[in-house]
Amino acid sequence: MNNILNALTLKELQQKYPFVINYFEENRLDVEGFENSTFDEYLNHFSEEEIEEWGIDIKGIREGLLEYISQMIEFLGLEEDRGIESLTIVAGTDKSGKKENFEEFTIRKSEIVSIVGPTGSGKSRLLADIEWAAQGDTPTKRRILINGEVPDMKWRFSSNNKLVAQLSQNMNFVMDLTVYEFLKLHAQSRMVEREEEVIKEIIEAANNLSGEKFDLNSQITSLSGGQSRALMIADTAILSSSPIVLIDEIENAGIDRKKALNLLVSSDKIVLIATHDPILALMADKRIVIKNGGIDKIIETSKEEKKVLEELERMDSIIQKMRNDLRIGLIIDSI
Ligand SMILES: Nc1ncnc2c1ncn2[C@@H]1O[C@H](COP(=O)(O)OP(=O)(O)OP(=O)(O)O)[C@@H](O)[C@H]1O
Ligand SMILES: [Mg+2]
Repeated sequence: MNNILNALTLKELQQKYPFVINYFEENRLDVEGFENSTFDEYLNHFSEEEIEEWGIDIKGIREGLLEYISQMIEFLGLEEDRGIESLTIVAGTDKSGKKENFEEFTIRKSEIVSIVGPTGSGKSRLLADIEWAAQGDTPTKRRILINGEVPDMKWRFSSNNKLVAQLSQNMNFVMDLTVYEFLKLHAQSRMVEREEEVIKEIIEAANNLSGEKFDLNSQITSLSGGQSRALMIADTAILSSSPIVLIDEIENAGIDRKKALNLLVSSDKIVLIATHDPILALMADKRIVIKNGGIDKIIETSKEEKKVLEELERMDSIIQKMRNDLRIGLIIDSI
């Protein structure tokens, strides 16, 4: 990371990280004419007198830019698609130190696996093991393999090299951008074509998931929990390159769970979702049952269960409708 400031020309740097322009502007760095120089060369061009006269803090500016880039990378969730085909969980131990009730479990691209089990049984722990690519060094002693191998450890320790997108309700927005600015930055950095169309697609998908609509001019920090969750899900599904998506407790976010899941699954990812919701549990291809901290069973969703799911969805749509009616102040007199 440190050497991007003396390895890339400013033109290359801006192509890779379009948002650096904001940093230059904020710090009144006039880089015009230095397109083919590196940032370090640009800093070196200031004379002693200029540095003194304008009070330029060369070291601070350099460190500030590196910090800005790494924050933005993390914030925007930029990462390369590494051709991930499978994720394998290798058994560890449950809370009593007893070996888990399976050997190895492999999940492939486009598969969706739910994680069920009583409160406190260890669902979030399993997601954390995957996020951390545990190698026997967490309380569960599990190991996580990617494409059948121990993943490159740089994925673990570098926050801007994320293998997984973790969706949680409390988004930590470091910068106060509008929704449009956020999506534009993200789209530019992912170098998508038809940027404006993709942005429109994401906002539509997000609004399709959450009740109260928001628009592109909303400040990202002013979105409600459900709205920012919806935005993150739409953004992850449509723009993020993270091949693995981990979702903890989508049901409490007040968004349309089924649409959210469909959106994510249609995008060629490995999706794991910890849930207490029978609909989400059965929408998955398989479900992991956790007991006392250990994986106790892995169950494939059967045809019969899928039929039950249809029935559940019918019941759920009645509840959803009632929820919406109540939200907009209607009086309920029948089902
Ligand atoms: N195999 C294990 N060995 C030791 N500790 C474990 C193990 N599995 C889970 N734990 C610990 O048990 C506690 C509860 O687990 P966790 O938070 O994952 O539960 P949960 O199933 O997500 O519950 P909830 O449904 O309430 O969200 C955590 O402190 C976790 O670290
Ligand atoms: Mg949990």
